[in-house]
Amino acid sequence: MTKKILVTRHVYPEAIELLQGCGELEYHDSSSGLDRDTMLRAVADKQAVVCQLTDPMDAEVMDAAPELKVIANVAVGFDNIDVAAATERGIVVSNTPGVLTDTTADFAFTLLMAAARRVTEAERFLRDGRWQQWEIDMFSGQDINHHTLGIYGLGRIGRCMARRATGFDMRVIYHDAVRADYDEQLGLKFVDKETLFRESDFVSIHVPLNDETRHCVGAPELALMKPTAILINTSRGPVVDELALAQALAEKRIAGAGLDVYENEPTVSPELLALDNLVMAPHIASASVKTRTRMCVMAAENAAAVINGERPPNPVNPEVL
Ligand code: GLV
Repeated sequence: MTKKILVTRHVYPEAIELLQGCGELEYHDSSSGLDRDTMLRAVADKQAVVCQLTDPMDAEVMDAAPELKVIANVAVGFDNIDVAAATERGIVVSNTPGVLTDTTADFAFTLLMAAARRVTEAERFLRDGRWQQWEIDMFSGQDINHHTLGIYGLGRIGRCMARRATGFDMRVIYHDAVRADYDEQLGLKFVDKETLFRESDFVSIHVPLNDETRHCVGAPELALMKPTAILINTSRGPVVDELALAQALAEKRIAGAGLDVYENEPTVSPELLALDNLVMAPHIASASVKTRTRMCVMAAENAAAVINGERPPNPVNPEVL
């Protein structure tokens, strides 16, 4: 019997080529996604869904898809998917780990540098025609070299961020739920959460979003930070209490922030938009052509493997296999 595959949004064409060889494709080649009713109808006869982080895949969607075998997310994060519900129904969930690690760490470091040296603020000033003269303290920012980077969550991306920091002669400390046994080899120092926020000149967040990490950076953590410190978030918006951050930035209790992710994407709190002392990007940390192409292909490979009765390379819930 021909297998039916749903691709919910526009993806790089290499993924479509791969999927075309595996079954009958319903491809929504648009970035706007499916409204709820269309999604519920579209999944009804599908064995595989290739979806993105903007597609909520909950129990209702799964119940509308009695033949569904795999949900292949084009992202490393999978907080848009109710994995427990999928597991209960024997549906494999897969993600795209590894391929975006370097690209995402590159961008976290880009935000760190841009926020430290006030790059976007200075560019706005120049483009607005406000530059009249060279001044000794114009857009003076924070040094990166020989300062302390605190990594909150030492997973793949956190480790990559640490490697970049050593090239800038930074001291690197980290906090994670468990201490890594290789940390000293990498020159990293494990500290408790309070010490991380208190001692770091830059805190970069690299934890996944789940019940334990939602708002795990809020007013109490921000209050521990130095007035010269900068917060970087390339993980998921709801990990940070956005309004508490806006308040700390507005009151200059911390020097700045570099954000790629927000609590209610694509809406960004007006409280953040009103501020100058932060650099903001629209959730693009993994967005190089090469990496995004590889993510799409990887999701397609996971979907294809499951519907062909093979073990997918990147299951999130391997217990269902
Ligand atoms: C992007 O945010 C991802 O999780 O891959």
